[in-house]
Amino acid sequence: MKRFEDKIAFVSGAANGIGKACMQRLASEGATVIAADWKADDLEASIGPLLEAGYHVTGVPTDVMDEAQIEAAFEKVDQFGGGGLDISLHIAGNSMFGLVESLESAEWERLWRLNVLSTIICCRLAVARMKASGGGAIVNMSSISGIAGDPGWGPYNSAKAAIANLTQCLAWEVGRYNIRANAICPGPIGTERMLGSLESAPEQAEAYNRSNPLGRIGTPEECAGAICFLASDDAAFVNSTTLVCDGGLTGVTGQPRFDMDSYVFDGGS
Ligand SMILES: NC(=O)c1ccc[n+]([C@@H]2O[C@H](COP(=O)([O-])OP(=O)(O)OC[C@H]3O[C@@H](n4cnc5c(N)ncnc54)[C@H](O)[C@@H]3O)[C@@H](O)[C@H]2O)c1
Repeated sequence: MKRFEDKIAFVSGAANGIGKACMQRLASEGATVIAADWKADDLEASIGPLLEAGYHVTGVPTDVMDEAQIEAAFEKVDQFGGGGLDISLHIAGNSMFGLVESLESAEWERLWRLNVLSTIICCRLAVARMKASGGGAIVNMSSISGIAGDPGWGPYNSAKAAIANLTQCLAWEVGRYNIRANAICPGPIGTERMLGSLESAPEQAEAYNRSNPLGRIGTPEECAGAICFLASDDAAFVNSTTLVCDGGLTGVTGQPRFDMDSYVFDGGS
């Protein structure tokens, strides 16, 4: 029996990157997936090979900035799930560079609507359906940028921090319905988009590699593995947590680093 056999799953941001890898993983492990993304052409291209492989995936072009479109996507879920839903992954999101002292309110509003409000709406719509299913698993997309500051990325970091905290509140509200809610906090993940931008900046790519104890950034598939773990029954007692998936990047305090092979501690004498 496949891990997600007979499960109905919703994934936002499914056309590319981490969301696409999640959709592929869920579908290949037996789930019926309703895949939402505002890039209709990319969505079709990503779903095509999955349908050819005989998996069960339906694409719904959806802009998660628009509440009515999210509602329409979840109505599609009802067509397949008979009113129920088992897994809901809220992956769609994006970042924006800008200083707190200079960004306009409209820019904050846009970024927060894309990342935070869309997640809130998806959670609301998912919970109603999971109650009908007798339970379910929600995974919200936070980031290691939601755990600490990255100067210049205030809108993004604060939005991802809000998502992590929202997820904890939600978990405590809906646990009584056998619904789990967890957040995933990836570090740098080499999606096509990210690898494309690093191609023209090899020194930046090298800096990313150097900053990680594993000496590299992650892959969308590795990130999807952690997300699908949270969505699966293997994580049946994992709830209200933020799972960091960063290869160890955030495991240091930021104090000066010394050469590990030659450093000798003199015991304070
Ligand atoms: N890649 C990383 O290093 C990284 C690290 C931490 C967190 N994240 C988060 O992971 C999520 C996915 O990012 P990714 O790196 O896979 O990016 P990506 O650009 O490869 O994929 C994002 C997908 O979301 C879709 N999307 C964007 N805005 C949308 C909208 N308004 N409505 C519907 N779909 C929309 C895009 O079309 C795209 O298919 C984001 O929330 C991002 O903040 C990414």
